[in-house]
Amino acid sequence: MKGIILAGGRGSRLYPITRGISKQLFPVYDKPMIYHPITTLMLAGVTDFLIISTPQALPTFRELLGDGGQWGVSFQYAAQGEPRGLADAFLIGEEFIGGDPVALALGDNIFHGAGLGEQLEDINRGNQGATIFGYTVADPSSFGVVEQGPDGKAISIEEKPKNPKSNLAVTGLYFYDNQVVEIAKSVKPSKRGEIEITAVNNAYLQRGQLDLKVLPRGTAWLDAGTFDGLLQAAEYVHAVEKRTGTKIACPEEVAWHIGLIDDAQVRALAADHRNEYGDYLLRLVG
Ligand code: DAU
Repeated sequence: MKGIILAGGRGSRLYPITRGISKQLFPVYDKPMIYHPITTLMLAGVTDFLIISTPQALPTFRELLGDGGQWGVSFQYAAQGEPRGLADAFLIGEEFIGGDPVALALGDNIFHGAGLGEQLEDINRGNQGATIFGYTVADPSSFGVVEQGPDGKAISIEEKPKNPKSNLAVTGLYFYDNQVVEIAKSVKPSKRGEIEITAVNNAYLQRGQLDLKVLPRGTAWLDAGTFDGLLQAAEYVHAVEKRTGTKIACPEEVAWHIGLIDDAQVRALAADHRNEYGDYLLRLVG
């Protein structure tokens, strides 16, 4: 399965200048925001990535992440000139995806929870149709909102509804089979002028091929794309890391854990950090 990280967009929900910088490069406490979607997909078994961002921000992403070899993965890069919508990822990424299934992770979404990696890996192995993840939130009106039937299956999805039919928000992590490219091509722009991921998901729903997984309450899902969201995400990462002495979304650790890099490579990577991040990497390999 291929993986696409969408890390462009307007950014103006944070600061007007973020177009040039890209908010996904901002730190969430001790590491750049984009480390979160990258490690989430790595834990799902993805090693082949396409990073999509604005033409202005792409050079910095390249500088930060390189070709991925340091973590045993591959990063390719593609520019999105205008924020045409999330489904645009599959048009920009058509050649990259080829005939494979693909996972899409939004650059500002943060997931953390016991067993999440294994759950995602299982989906990756058996993926047919589409899989989306619902998460209960107090105010779902700024998200895609999914309504469940009595059997728990999705029966409707609405993008940012004024009167949400449930409290179940659709998170920014999506698994699709190869039909997604053809479906994305047929999606018409919405009122806000974007080709919406919700339209793609509704197309799968109509085909009877949409699987909804509801994330358990013990899983954390945070959207770091607003002032409050960014601070809350940093506070969450800080609190959990300090309390447990382990790191969330540390790509070096994830790569080592799943056997993409060995002890010597972790030691070499630790040398890049003259701080407790480097100490942590050294402690990992003993
Ligand atoms: O966070 C989950 C939500 O993400 C879902 O519940 C919604 O259904 C989905 O539409 C999306 O809603 P947002 O309005 O919050 O998406 P936003 O425009 O903030 O974009 C999400 C990320 O994708 C953000 O990091 C910017 C990036 N992006 C966005 C667009 C529209 C791009 O890179 N290119 C784009 O064209």
